Amino acid sequence: MHLPLLNKKVLITAGPTREAIDPVRYISNHSSGKMGYAIAESFLRAGAQVYLVSGPVSMNIHCRDRMKIVQVGPASEMYLACCQYFDIVDIAVFAAAVADYRPEKIATQKIKKEDDSFTIKMVKNIDIAYEFGKIKTAGQLSIGFALETNDEINNAMHKLARKNFDMVILNSLNESNAAFGVDDNKISIIQKDLTQIDFPSQSKKEVADNILSVTCDFLYKRMGRAITSAL
Ligand code: CTP
Repeated sequence: MHLPLLNKKVLITAGPTREAIDPVRYISNHSSGKMGYAIAESFLRAGAQVYLVSGPVSMNIHCRDRMKIVQVGPASEMYLACCQYFDIVDIAVFAAAVADYRPEKIATQKIKKEDDSFTIKMVKNIDIAYEFGKIKTAGQLSIGFALETNDEINNAMHKLARKNFDMVILNSLNESNAAFGVDDNKISIIQKDLTQIDFPSQSKKEVADNILSVTCDFLYKRMGRAITSAL
């Protein structure tokens, strides 16, 4: 069996994060985690050691050889879990829908219904992909997602540069059948040299396999360049 990622270590974030308001309430989003989990499956099949850091999802995934799953709640926990692997991984795939903001204070008791309106002050969460982008070494590969509803290509390219991604997977909510929770997804992959590959609407398994094959091509090219410059 051909295992192109044998001996490679991959960190994958998946699912939503959950930001507590009080002991019984939280703020989250509709991410099902299906895309991140499908990527974990594809990379496992390719022989990689996978570290899957997942927000709360309803899917069952069986832990097996070469796979470690860390379950987290809020973005702060997801970041701390990822920090354990940043230094040792060859590839990081940021597929989680991390909440951009969290309530500034978490009430220790259930908040009672009193006034007619109620305001929660939100503060910015740490950007996990951006933090990895700052410390990433030349040998590490960083892959991000960009979920956009408008000016998709420009926004995705901006994220590619700002978060120091080697490639960004543009996931457009404008395309029919390409949204949270569904089984199909339509993506474009934009690489650091700004080459763009557009894919038709596909199952998340097919999308994950395409991400895997573009990743392998990227690694082969990088290896080729390293050999050529050493000659
Ligand atoms: N990301 C992350 N940590 C965050 C926010 C985003 O790791 N706190 C990662 C996502 O997993 C994804 C990429 O950054 O790979 C882009 O996420 P996205 O939500 O599209 O963009 P944001 O940077 O949050 O910007 P905006 O919401 O303004 O589009």
